[in-house]
Amino acid sequence: MDNPVIVAIDGPSGTGKSSTSKAVAAKLGLSYLDTGAQYRAITWWMLANGIDVDDPAAVADCAGKPSIVSGTDPLDPQISVDGVDVTTPIRSQQVTAAVSAVSAVPQVRARMVETQRAAAATAAAGIVVEGRDIGTTVLPDATAKIFLTASAEVRAARRSTELKGAVSLAATQEALIRRDAADSGRKTSPLAKADDAIEVDTSELTLDQVVDRVVALVEERRATV
Ligand code: DC
Repeated sequence: MDNPVIVAIDGPSGTGKSSTSKAVAAKLGLSYLDTGAQYRAITWWMLANGIDVDDPAAVADCAGKPSIVSGTDPLDPQISVDGVDVTTPIRSQQVTAAVSAVSAVPQVRARMVETQRAAAATAAAGIVVEGRDIGTTVLPDATAKIFLTASAEVRAARRSTELKGAVSLAATQEALIRRDAADSGRKTSPLAKADDAIEVDTSELTLDQVVDRVVALVEERRATV
């Protein structure tokens, strides 16, 4: 049997990471893990339990408390916290605004990285893992590492479409830039491109074009290992 294929897809918000990662996993018959959803899930739990997310010591103290279960089906990725399905609530504005602070806490990251490596190690055919630090920290030996980018304008426009115009384009772009700066500037495994990652600028590409490009890159890498 072929070795499991491990694909790391990193990049900032609004670059099409989730849509691309799910489609690539489905096309290649691989599992899928959304690590951003895990950070959102623990953030949801902190907010639901009245923890001050701007107090790193308070967040660190309860980093191990919630039980987070991530589904790995690319066609139906679900996530639960203590048995509660939080697939939809983790996308709320409140969670989005708080997630960078929670995910900057080293105790939170240590816990998540452990579960992410375990998911990759047990995926029989292989897995597509999307996030910010997958190629650099979580799975440095991945078969293929992709770093997606897009201009701030394009990313904000995509996010705004997802939010169905509930927030102005300018406010969406500002929030996105703020979150990227926090994610890139934190001390523990910041958002970064691995030296051996292949960068794909999605600004001018359709989703299908990005997926085809990434699938081709994975097949290329798979042929050489
Ligand atoms: O991909 P997303 O927007 O759902 O991710 C939510 C947040 O989680 C993002 O602002 C940064 C954090 N994150 C992280 O720190 N490390 C990852 N591997 C994935 C996400």
